[in-house]
Amino acid sequence: DDQDIQHCFDTAVRIARNAGEVVRVAFHKEKNIDTKSCGTDLVTETDKQVEELIIGSLKKEFPSHSFIGEETVSAGGSCNLTNNPTWIIDPIDGTTNFVHRFPYVAVCIGLAINKKVEIGVIYSCIRDELYTARRGSGAFRNGKQIHCSGLTDISKALVITELGASRELANMEVVNKNFRTVAEPPIRVHGIRMLGSAALNLCSIAEGSADLYYEFGIHVWDIAAAGLIVEEAGGVLLDPSGGPIDLMARRVLAAGSQEIAEKASKHLECIDLPRD
Ligand code: IPD
Repeated sequence: DDQDIQHCFDTAVRIARNAGEVVRVAFHKEKNIDTKSCGTDLVTETDKQVEELIIGSLKKEFPSHSFIGEETVSAGGSCNLTNNPTWIIDPIDGTTNFVHRFPYVAVCIGLAINKKVEIGVIYSCIRDELYTARRGSGAFRNGKQIHCSGLTDISKALVITELGASRELANMEVVNKNFRTVAEPPIRVHGIRMLGSAALNLCSIAEGSADLYYEFGIHVWDIAAAGLIVEEAGGVLLDPSGGPIDLMARRVLAAGSQEIAEKASKHLECIDLPRD
């Protein structure tokens, strides 16, 4: 019920702040860098340490809940989204930024119940910006309500996308093609940005500082929590094909209006990826 959700929310915020403090301290230090699926898919000791901290703290409070965490899944853990209350965690979204000390890194904590995200907490810990949402209650940055831009003309849009971790050539062809589709006439948007954190890209849509974000190759932990923040800020979250968002399908399109979301989904070429 409502009180339970509020308790989950308060706990998530507290833990995200604690985790963010650990990331912030490690940010300026020497790092031990490793690779995962390929040479551009990075992980550090801090990713693992912070994920253990988050899952450990949540488990103490909610022993019957389920967990999906980026580093646990990388280590062979399950990535099963069931109807059971499931915490979806990315200890450091923007690990490449973290490694390079580019200050866009975020702790992501989402809670899905019956496969629907009910709570989203994103802590941009270097810039000390906390984005939060509860389904049906709006989206907030440091406690102040935020809204999407509502821009409808895609030609006036500021667009965010990413190269993604995998640089497989066949997929890069599509990535580059989509890049040209939005950059060149007739769509020719105002500009294209890459922040290096899917969650903070989504928060940019939520706060109206960008109008469209799309990416192929992300994972459920990159978009679950921040996706709710977009929706609660009045934005649109879709599968890039134009269908409903599928959290496990490794792709996302978010926009500040239905018009831009639909226009983009009509023009973008899609990449099919193995599901989470
Ligand atoms: C990555 C970031 C990046 C996106 C990648 C993600 P990670 O997450 O969100 O912006 O392009 O697809 O994997 O690995 O730093 O948690």
